[in-house]
Amino acid sequence: MKKYLKLFIALFAALAIMLVFTGCQKDDGIIKMGTNAEFPPFEYVENGEYAGIDVELAQAIAKELGKELEIVDMAFNALIDALNSGKVDFVAAGMSVDPEREKNVDFTIKYYNATQTIIVQAGNENIKSKDDLVGKKIGVQTGTTGYDVAVEIKDAVVSTYENGLEATMDLANGNIDAVIIDDFPAKKYVEKNPGLKLVDGQFEEEQYAMAVKKGNKKLLEQINKALQKLMDDGTYDKILEKYSD
Ligand code: ARG
Repeated sequence: MKKYLKLFIALFAALAIMLVFTGCQKDDGIIKMGTNAEFPPFEYVENGEYAGIDVELAQAIAKELGKELEIVDMAFNALIDALNSGKVDFVAAGMSVDPEREKNVDFTIKYYNATQTIIVQAGNENIKSKDDLVGKKIGVQTGTTGYDVAVEIKDAVVSTYENGLEATMDLANGNIDAVIIDDFPAKKYVEKNPGLKLVDGQFEEEQYAMAVKKGNKKLLEQINKALQKLMDDGTYDKILEKYSD
């Protein structure tokens, strides 16, 4: 009997220590955002600092939650795994809600409407819509909805890049015929590169949302509440405006 009592006490102590430990881990006052900071104006690095709409929005959300925001930058196609393995608490990366992703993460309320756009060389007169992309060489960022629409185009040769900038540089160099990427980043890339222009792709509308690990109801509700508040009180509009120039 004594033997069992000791064992019981030892187990109980171990359990208590574990509980304290996980408790502490969960509430260290830091909230980690996963992103791919190569997607202006939503997230990018400027003068060694993270900037962009998602970055400022996430900062405002963290403030609402009374937490300090820590940004973890990675490849776009690594974000969902990072969420599921607990490496980050949420993702804010101009990520479009889509059914495939919805199987693996829980999305917050939507905060931005986007659409895929085509970028071509400024002198290109052949590509005027997505129908003209048949059989063409198309560049996209790995793991994005731009990739999903590009591979649907008949006979297209799709090249994947780590980020949109690399894709547009390859386009400027004439190695590919077009880039398919979200409209707002596309506009930013073209503004910086006079050798390129935008073509309306007439693709379907997409919506950006932030994401949490599937089943993390508590954080989902907290972020939704904060996001809704920031959209209602004008903070969100101010942030958007700042990056729209
Ligand atoms: N909206 C697109 C998608 O969800 C592209 C997002 C790319 N975001 C980024 N931070 N690189 O696939």
